[in-house]
Amino acid sequence: MQRKVDFYYFSPTGGTKKAGEIFSREISENVNFIDLAKEKEFPQTDGELAVLAAPVFGGRIPAFVAEKLKKIDGAGKKAVTFAVYGVRAYEDALAELNDAAAARGFQVIASAAAVAQHSIVPSVGAGRPDEKDAAEIQEFARKVLDKLAQGPDAAFEVPGNRPYKQWGGMPAAPISLPSCNQCKKCADACPTEAIAVKENEVETDAEKCILCMACTAVCPEHARILPPPLKEKLEEKLGAFKDVRRANEFYL
Ligand SMILES: Cc1cc2nc3c(=O)[nH]c(=O)nc-3n(C[C@H](O)[C@H](O)[C@H](O)COP(=O)(O)O)c2cc1C
Ligand code: SF4
Ligand code: SF4
Repeated sequence: MQRKVDFYYFSPTGGTKKAGEIFSREISENVNFIDLAKEKEFPQTDGELAVLAAPVFGGRIPAFVAEKLKKIDGAGKKAVTFAVYGVRAYEDALAELNDAAAARGFQVIASAAAVAQHSIVPSVGAGRPDEKDAAEIQEFARKVLDKLAQGPDAAFEVPGNRPYKQWGGMPAAPISLPSCNQCKKCADACPTEAIAVKENEVETDAEKCILCMACTAVCPEHARILPPPLKEKLEEKLGAFKDVRRANEFYL
């Protein structure tokens, strides 16, 4: 019989969802998609395996994800974790995600650090996860199925320091250009309700903004952008990673 999979994800620009979905669909045809950006309550499900997927922000999982996870009861269920990052490094994110999952009562049986296009500088990791990544993630899923069939679960470790790296976010928020037509798609996509679309302008509460880039990705007019000086600074910082093909890493 097919296992039911609960796929919990936070994916402001789609890369995390893509990687986790490839995995979840290889495990089962019966996947329950649970978007952490949208859901506020997490009732118990009849899923048998949880997939928990988060993007890496500053070598950590976003505080937004950590807060959402506190509302989920793992109830002793087995889980597979994905930290999805934009080529530079995932540092303590996977360890942090696994600690958070264990603290909620999940039994983490396998983990992946998967590469996706960088959501701030898309020329870094452009197009990833691609076909080669998909084949690797599917192979990992088959190994996880083997592990589930075999039991008892062998212990494993993922890289990462404790205490985790300090990261307080970036003190900036995207801006809207005059070509904005006040369609409100950015406000609807914002996970922290930081955007208010007024008659002739879009207001962004920089205190609430976690710089997740969901609003820039969703804007049909390409009118939502990072402040150009910040974008240039980050492009310079990450330029060295444009030609790097970082490998996915799997732990089980
Ligand atoms: C605020 C912020 C911080 C990021 N920090 C890192 C990082 O430390 N290391 C890295 O390799 N990628 C980093 N990235 C890139 C994302 O981890 C990567 O693009 C991820 O796939 C985004 O997930 P999404 O496509 O589901 O939004 C960062 C992106 C953002 C928006
Ligand atoms: S999505 Fe783009 S066009 Fe629509 S309100 Fe937001 S900034 Fe304006
Ligand atoms: S305003 Fe900030 S938090 Fe909201 S979608 Fe845009 S980048 Fe993300």
